Amino acid sequence: MKLVVHVHDLPMWSLPVAQVERIRRALPQVDIVDVRDYADCRAAIVDADVALAPRMQAATLAAATRLRWVHSTAVGIGWLPLADLAARGIPVTNVRGVHAEILAEHAMALLLGLRRQFPAADTRRRAREWAQEALAAIPVPRLSATTVLVVGLGGIGTHVARYASGMGMRVIGVRRDVTLPPPPGVDRVVPLSAVRDWLPQVDHVVLALPHTAETGQVLDAEALALLKPTALVVNVARGSLIDEGALAEALLAGRIGGAGLDVFATEPLPDASPLWSTPRTIITPHTGACDGDYWTPAIDCFLENWARFEAGAPLENVVNLARGY
Ligand code: GLV
Repeated sequence: MKLVVHVHDLPMWSLPVAQVERIRRALPQVDIVDVRDYADCRAAIVDADVALAPRMQAATLAAATRLRWVHSTAVGIGWLPLADLAARGIPVTNVRGVHAEILAEHAMALLLGLRRQFPAADTRRRAREWAQEALAAIPVPRLSATTVLVVGLGGIGTHVARYASGMGMRVIGVRRDVTLPPPPGVDRVVPLSAVRDWLPQVDHVVLALPHTAETGQVLDAEALALLKPTALVVNVARGSLIDEGALAEALLAGRIGGAGLDVFATEPLPDASPLWSTPRTIITPHTGACDGDYWTPAIDCFLENWARFEAGAPLENVVNLARGY
């Protein structure tokens, strides 16, 4: 059996060598090839059975002659050639759920930090200014008097819903299948097609959904224009779900209350992005899933699935390639 481990262009998403060694120790019977660039990956994948990779080029997949499984070390699978994998019937699994709780904590931290005016406090701190009167005068609602629209009720969204309802917020959850019972803390479940009806009514929007052809740019310029001028937008999903230019304009013009962003259409966020300097904005560099050890639970998840793969048992966390998540 041969396993190819391929890295990502960004070091943060590349499997650390120590984890490759851990896989070698756990699977001594397996021929493990750790490749660090696309050309090497194309050569190594020719006779590989399994690929462990968050990202793969279509040409790499085309070179594979006996690939039977791809495991993504990310949740988002937009970096894989999904249509080609589907056409060849190669299953893809991911790390869905593994970092959901920490990501939900991150989303709540962004929401609370924005609601409590932390960006303004930090600006004043940098100027060594004790801006007590100015900050005290900013009107801030009690969270228990607010409504949050949680778009996406997967692992992250269900944790966000639980935390938000624990703080007294009314929670409207958006998901594809509205016939399923609402997860704990969700007052009402609505479909994606109802998002625009809800945008004018809510105080916060948390994006926790995958970016697919179906979900598109859920917060495009028109959708952003529907929000209350005090509304907060939190995104821990994918940057491409938001029209970033329109968001920056809305922040600059005071047409929305704030934005907490962990993900961006282009990463690293380009120097020229207006979001670096918009007011009432918190930016984290796609670290919402991180707690100092992203990789141990991610590889636990892979190794558990490997045992199933070897035993011929059904894999867990299998992605629906047609849906894209
Ligand atoms: C990170 O963004 C992931 O998809 O896991």
